[in-house]
Amino acid sequence: MRIVFASGNRGKYREMKAQLEPIGVELLFGGDMEGPHEIEETGETYADNALIKARAWAEATGLPALADDSGLEAEALGGLPGVHSARIVEGSDADRTRWLLGELADKEDMRGRFACAIAVVMPGGREPLVVTRYCPGVIIREPRGESGFGYDPVFIPDGFDKTFAELGDETKNKISHRALAVKGIAEMLRAVIE
Ligand code: IMP
Repeated sequence: MRIVFASGNRGKYREMKAQLEPIGVELLFGGDMEGPHEIEETGETYADNALIKARAWAEATGLPALADDSGLEAEALGGLPGVHSARIVEGSDADRTRWLLGELADKEDMRGRFACAIAVVMPGGREPLVVTRYCPGVIIREPRGESGFGYDPVFIPDGFDKTFAELGDETKNKISHRALAVKGIAEMLRAVIE
Protein backbone atom coordinates (compact mmCIF):
# COMPACT_ATOMS: atom_id res chain seq x y z
CA MET A 1 0.00 0.00 0.00
CA ARG A 2 1.39 3.45 -0.97
CA ILE A 3 0.63 6.36 1.35
CA VAL A 4 1.69 10.01 1.02
CA PHE A 5 3.13 11.67 4.12
CA ALA A 6 1.33 15.03 4.20
CA SER A 7 4.26 17.15 5.37
CA GLY A 8 7.65 18.45 4.30
CA ASN A 9 9.25 17.53 7.65
CA ARG A 10 11.94 14.98 6.75
CA GLY A 11 12.76 14.05 10.35
CA LYS A 12 9.17 13.02 11.06
CA TYR A 13 9.00 11.28 7.67
CA ARG A 14 12.04 9.09 8.42
CA GLU A 15 10.68 8.10 11.81
CA MET A 16 7.28 7.14 10.41
CA LYS A 17 8.66 5.36 7.34
CA ALA A 18 10.82 3.12 9.55
CA GLN A 19 7.79 2.02 11.55
CA LEU A 20 5.41 1.58 8.60
CA GLU A 21 7.71 -0.25 6.17
CA PRO A 22 7.65 -3.56 8.10
CA ILE A 23 3.87 -3.79 7.73
CA GLY A 24 3.97 -3.30 3.96
CA VAL A 25 3.36 0.45 3.70
CA GLU A 26 5.45 2.45 1.23
CA LEU A 27 5.45 5.99 2.63
CA LEU A 28 6.05 8.70 0.00
CA PHE A 29 7.61 11.99 1.13
CA GLY A 30 5.25 14.95 0.70
CA GLY A 31 8.23 17.30 0.62
CA ASP A 32 9.12 15.90 -2.82
CA MET A 33 5.62 16.59 -4.19
CA GLU A 34 3.60 19.59 -5.28
CA GLY A 35 0.89 18.92 -2.68
CA PRO A 36 -0.98 21.55 -0.61
CA HIS A 37 1.92 22.67 1.61
CA GLU A 38 0.24 25.69 3.23
CA ILE A 39 -2.85 24.35 4.97
CA GLU A 40 -4.45 26.37 7.76
CA GLU A 41 -4.76 24.27 10.90
CA THR A 42 -8.15 25.53 12.05
CA GLY A 43 -9.26 22.46 14.04
CA GLU A 44 -9.96 22.47 17.76
CA THR A 45 -8.24 19.14 18.34
CA TYR A 46 -5.05 17.45 17.11
CA ALA A 47 -7.23 14.84 15.41
CA ASP A 48 -9.22 17.55 13.55
CA ASN A 49 -6.01 19.15 12.30
CA ALA A 50 -4.47 15.84 11.24
CA LEU A 51 -7.68 15.04 9.33
CA ILE A 52 -7.75 18.46 7.63
CA LYS A 53 -4.19 17.93 6.35
CA ALA A 54 -4.67 14.28 5.35
CA ARG A 55 -7.92 15.09 3.48
CA ALA A 56 -6.31 17.95 1.55
CA TRP A 57 -3.38 15.74 0.48
CA ALA A 58 -5.58 12.77 -0.43
CA GLU A 59 -7.70 15.07 -2.61
CA ALA A 60 -4.71 16.73 -4.26
CA THR A 61 -2.75 13.53 -4.99
CA GLY A 62 -5.50 10.92 -5.42
CA LEU A 63 -3.50 8.68 -3.05
CA PRO A 64 -4.10 7.66 0.57
CA ALA A 65 -2.53 10.36 2.80
CA LEU A 66 -1.19 10.32 6.35
CA ALA A 67 -0.86 13.49 8.45
CA ASP A 68 0.02 14.27 12.06
CA ASP A 69 -0.55 17.10 14.49
CA SER A 70 1.00 17.51 17.92
CA GLY A 71 1.51 19.81 20.86
CA LEU A 72 2.42 20.23 24.51
CA GLU A 73 -0.24 20.67 27.21
CA ALA A 74 0.57 22.25 30.58
CA GLU A 75 -1.90 21.21 33.24
CA ALA A 76 -1.67 24.49 35.19
CA LEU A 77 -2.52 26.39 31.98
CA GLY A 78 -5.66 24.40 31.24
CA GLY A 79 -3.91 22.51 28.43
CA LEU A 80 -2.18 25.45 26.72
CA PRO A 81 -0.30 25.81 24.43
CA GLY A 82 -1.96 22.59 23.13
CA VAL A 83 -3.04 22.71 19.49
CA HIS A 84 -1.51 26.21 19.33
CA SER A 85 1.97 24.94 20.34
CA ALA A 86 3.68 25.85 17.06
CA ARG A 87 2.23 29.37 16.93
CA ILE A 88 1.33 30.45 20.48
CA VAL A 89 3.76 33.37 20.11
CA GLU A 90 5.68 34.52 17.05
CA GLY A 91 9.41 33.89 16.80
CA SER A 92 11.55 30.83 17.43
CA ASP A 93 11.13 27.61 19.42
CA ALA A 94 13.22 29.30 22.15
CA ASP A 95 10.79 32.26 22.23
CA ARG A 96 7.82 29.90 22.65
CA THR A 97 9.64 27.98 25.39
CA ARG A 98 10.31 31.29 27.18
CA TRP A 99 6.62 32.14 26.87
CA LEU A 100 5.68 28.79 28.43
CA LEU A 101 8.11 29.19 31.33
CA GLY A 102 6.86 32.75 31.90
CA GLU A 103 3.24 31.55 32.10
CA LEU A 104 4.27 28.81 34.57
CA ALA A 105 6.50 31.08 36.71
CA ASP A 106 3.86 31.58 39.43
CA LYS A 107 2.38 28.07 39.18
CA GLU A 108 3.20 25.10 41.39
CA ASP A 109 1.82 22.32 39.20
CA MET A 110 4.40 21.63 36.50
CA ARG A 111 2.78 18.50 35.09
CA GLY A 112 2.25 18.33 31.37
CA ARG A 113 1.96 15.99 28.44
CA PHE A 114 2.83 15.88 24.79
CA ALA A 115 0.02 14.80 22.47
CA CYS A 116 0.10 13.52 18.89
CA ALA A 117 -2.72 12.61 16.52
CA ILE A 118 -2.20 10.77 13.24
CA ALA A 119 -4.88 10.47 10.57
CA VAL A 120 -4.97 8.43 7.36
CA VAL A 121 -7.49 9.43 4.69
CA MET A 122 -8.12 7.11 1.76
CA PRO A 123 -9.69 8.41 -1.45
CA GLY A 124 -12.99 6.73 -2.25
CA GLY A 125 -15.02 7.38 0.85
CA ARG A 126 -13.59 4.75 3.20
CA GLU A 127 -13.83 5.80 6.89
CA PRO A 128 -10.60 7.66 7.88
CA LEU A 129 -8.26 6.12 10.50
CA VAL A 130 -7.38 8.37 13.46
CA VAL A 131 -5.40 7.85 16.68
CA THR A 132 -4.34 10.25 19.43
CA ARG A 133 -1.63 9.27 21.93
CA TYR A 134 0.02 11.05 24.89
CA CYS A 135 3.41 11.12 26.60
CA PRO A 136 3.00 12.40 30.18
CA GLY A 137 5.73 14.09 32.23
CA VAL A 138 6.83 17.31 33.91
CA ILE A 139 7.89 20.68 32.57
CA ILE A 140 11.07 22.09 34.16
CA ARG A 141 11.87 25.76 34.78
CA GLU A 142 15.33 25.87 33.09
CA PRO A 143 15.95 24.36 29.60
CA ARG A 144 18.41 21.43 29.53
CA GLY A 145 19.96 19.57 26.57
CA GLU A 146 20.74 20.23 22.95
CA SER A 147 19.01 17.61 20.80
CA GLY A 148 15.49 17.59 19.39
CA PHE A 149 13.33 20.65 18.75
CA GLY A 150 10.44 22.71 20.12
CA TYR A 151 9.79 22.26 23.84
CA ASP A 152 12.16 19.24 24.17
CA PRO A 153 14.63 21.02 26.52
CA VAL A 154 11.95 21.66 29.19
CA PHE A 155 10.09 18.33 29.17
CA ILE A 156 11.02 15.27 31.27
CA PRO A 157 8.91 12.22 30.41
CA ASP A 158 7.62 10.08 33.30
CA GLY A 159 10.09 7.35 34.31
CA PHE A 160 13.18 9.40 33.31
CA ASP A 161 15.28 12.15 34.92
CA LYS A 162 16.46 13.75 31.68
CA THR A 163 14.67 16.05 29.25
CA PHE A 164 13.77 14.91 25.73
CA ALA A 165 16.64 17.15 24.55
CA GLU A 166 19.09 15.31 26.85
CA LEU A 167 17.75 11.81 26.08
CA GLY A 168 18.41 12.17 22.34
CA ASP A 169 16.43 10.96 19.35
CA GLU A 170 17.04 7.24 19.77
CA THR A 171 15.41 7.05 23.20
CA LYS A 172 12.84 9.74 22.44
CA ASN A 173 11.68 7.92 19.32
CA LYS A 174 10.82 4.86 21.40
CA ILE A 175 8.68 6.59 24.03
CA SER A 176 7.37 9.83 22.54
CA HIS A 177 3.75 10.77 21.85
CA ARG A 178 4.61 10.57 18.12
CA ALA A 179 6.17 7.09 18.43
CA LEU A 180 3.09 5.85 20.30
CA ALA A 181 0.72 7.37 17.72
CA VAL A 182 2.67 5.81 14.82
CA LYS A 183 2.43 2.43 16.55
CA GLY A 184 -1.31 2.92 16.96
CA ILE A 185 -1.88 3.87 13.32
CA ALA A 186 0.37 1.00 12.16
CA GLU A 187 -1.88 -1.46 14.00
CA MET A 188 -4.97 0.01 12.37
CA LEU A 189 -3.33 -0.03 8.92
CA ARG A 190 -2.23 -3.63 9.36
CA ALA A 191 -5.86 -4.59 9.87
CA VAL A 192 -6.85 -2.71 6.67
CA ILE A 193 -4.03 -4.20 4.58
CA GLU A 194 -4.70 -7.79 5.67
P1 IMP B 1 3.16 20.25 14.47
O1 IMP B 1 2.58 18.96 14.91
O2 IMP B 1 4.25 20.06 13.46
O3 IMP B 1 2.11 21.25 14.09
O4 IMP B 1 3.95 20.85 15.71
C1 IMP B 1 3.34 21.31 16.86
C2 IMP B 1 4.30 22.01 17.79
O5 IMP B 1 4.25 21.31 19.04
C3 IMP B 1 5.77 22.02 17.39
O6 IMP B 1 6.12 23.15 16.67
C4 IMP B 1 6.45 22.05 18.75
O7 IMP B 1 6.47 23.36 19.24
C5 IMP B 1 5.51 21.23 19.61
N1 IMP B 1 5.92 19.82 19.62
C6 IMP B 1 5.27 18.77 19.07
N2 IMP B 1 5.95 17.62 19.25
C7 IMP B 1 7.07 17.97 19.91
C8 IMP B 1 8.19 17.22 20.37
O8 IMP B 1 8.33 16.01 20.20
N3 IMP B 1 9.14 17.94 21.02
C9 IMP B 1 9.07 19.27 21.23
N4 IMP B 1 8.06 20.01 20.81
C10 IMP B 1 7.06 19.38 20.14
